[in-house]
Amino acid sequence: MIVAIDGPAGAGKSTIARRVARRLDFQLIDTGAIYRTVAWRAVEAEMNLEDAPAIAELAASLHFDFKRDEQGENRLICDGRVMGNEIRTPEISLASSQISSHPELRQALLQIQRDLGERASSVLEGRDIGTVVFPRADVKIFLTASNEIRAQRRVDQMRERGEAAELEQVLAEIVERDRRDSERAAAPLKRADDAVDIDTSTLDIDQVVAKILEVVTNGGFAD
Ligand code: DC
Repeated sequence: MIVAIDGPAGAGKSTIARRVARRLDFQLIDTGAIYRTVAWRAVEAEMNLEDAPAIAELAASLHFDFKRDEQGENRLICDGRVMGNEIRTPEISLASSQISSHPELRQALLQIQRDLGERASSVLEGRDIGTVVFPRADVKIFLTASNEIRAQRRVDQMRERGEAAELEQVLAEIVERDRRDSERAAAPLKRADDAVDIDTSTLDIDQVVAKILEVVTNGGFAD
């Protein structure tokens, strides 16, 4: 069974997808972490991020896996390295958004994501899971929230990690990243026609998780 959770940055996808996966006892595939890891590797290797074929080749050469660590946290392992907060910096957020517009890269990651998702019942979170990666997913959820709420959540997350964060700047970055993610020609951020919309602005995490579990129970339909 495939549960696809798509939506823009800061809509609460990561936390919600993690909880839904735990409740269902499904594996969790954080596809943003895969894009981020490719971006991190490219930046480390001082590659030109505009060089789409080279970035796609890099992605195709990497091995990705997800495993739970001792704390029960879902971790992306890339070529044996456990990826952590190094892929969550503003620099890598920007770089991952930039490279994600390359159709060559998206193509290279398509089968990788499908293979990971098909290993077991899965919750996949991303931008194009319900539209491109698993267009026949059993359940499709599209999460949204107002720009201001999304920016505030991102700031809270960064401060929790001990990073400096300014609301105005984070808001501007979110608006810019959304624009790029929605306007790119290859698999733009777009709600699948048959997705169930959930606006998380005024709901708490438990309420959103409960709604999604209800949709799963209803075979993919809102009531
Ligand atoms: O969800 P995130 O912020 O970790 O994603 C990082 C970037 O990767 C984001 O700018 C868009 C891109 N991405 C994508 O294009 N397709 C996906 N399925 C997941 C992420």
